[in-house]
Amino acid sequence: MVYDTLLVEVDDHGIATVTINRPDKLNALNAQVIEDLDAFFALAQEDEAIRGVILTGAGSKSFVAGADIARFQELDGVSGKAFAERGQAVFNRIENLPKPVIAAVNGFALGGGSELALACHLRIASDTAVFGQPEVNLGILPGYGATQRLPRLVGLGIATELILTGSMIKADRAYEIGLINRLVPADDLMDSARDMMGTILSKAPLAVAGSLRALRAADQPLSAGLQAEATLFGEACDTADFKEGVAAFLEKRKASFSGR
Ligand code: COA
Repeated sequence: MVYDTLLVEVDDHGIATVTINRPDKLNALNAQVIEDLDAFFALAQEDEAIRGVILTGAGSKSFVAGADIARFQELDGVSGKAFAERGQAVFNRIENLPKPVIAAVNGFALGGGSELALACHLRIASDTAVFGQPEVNLGILPGYGATQRLPRLVGLGIATELILTGSMIKADRAYEIGLINRLVPADDLMDSARDMMGTILSKAPLAVAGSLRALRAADQPLSAGLQAEATLFGEACDTADFKEGVAAFLEKRKASFSGR
């Protein structure tokens, strides 16, 4: 797994740590980063050795400081739309991965960087993290999903404020509004992400995958979402891990899940 702009390490527990590696540009998302993320997450979908992904940025200053502004001078109406659609497709692939993805936000998460964190299933941030959607300062609006994912996560009012003012917020405010799941000292960031991932990976894998799929259906009207939940619940009831989980509870022992 060699990528121009990503460092990838997979440990013995199946946790892939993916580091976006352009620290001299604060890990800004150029076209190559987008293509590398697409290729990695396509692989992660298929590769059984990868059970979960932690995404972070190289260096201590930045997670991702946005899309690559150096490229913006080329954009017009047509290419701008294509640019947004390409990024959205890759971020959708991340969000739709049936394995947990945690953003470990180690500094600036601005514009496309904040949107990348929003596309992950969970977000843990260091106390040095800074979030924002500063696109209005450049005469554009978010194009990689913030107008849709941010209101779903923090509510329409706060999302509107962040997007219209372009203000940056620190990690404590991000925690207060529910943008991040955990706020930890910078030195503890990766351990905390691995700890959360370890907890998730100790559960029945098909139940975790089913939960992620059901949670995706939360975008749909309630009746459709509930139907999706019931279907996925039924599928879980057909698994060996369901039998094992219930038997282990009744026998007062720890369950040993096989992922079947
Ligand atoms: N795209 C391209 N390059 C970027 C970038 C981005 N989104 N964000 C930072 N960089 C580059 C800078 O141009 C600089 O490159 P250089 O050393 O070749 O000049 C390098 O990263 C370091 O950034 P710098 O601005 O010098 O660091 P700083 O500590 O003074 O400021 C920020 C940090 C994050 C406040 C500032 O870089 C910034 O505002 N970045 C843009 C954020 C943004 O608007 N993102 C949304 C884009 S839609």
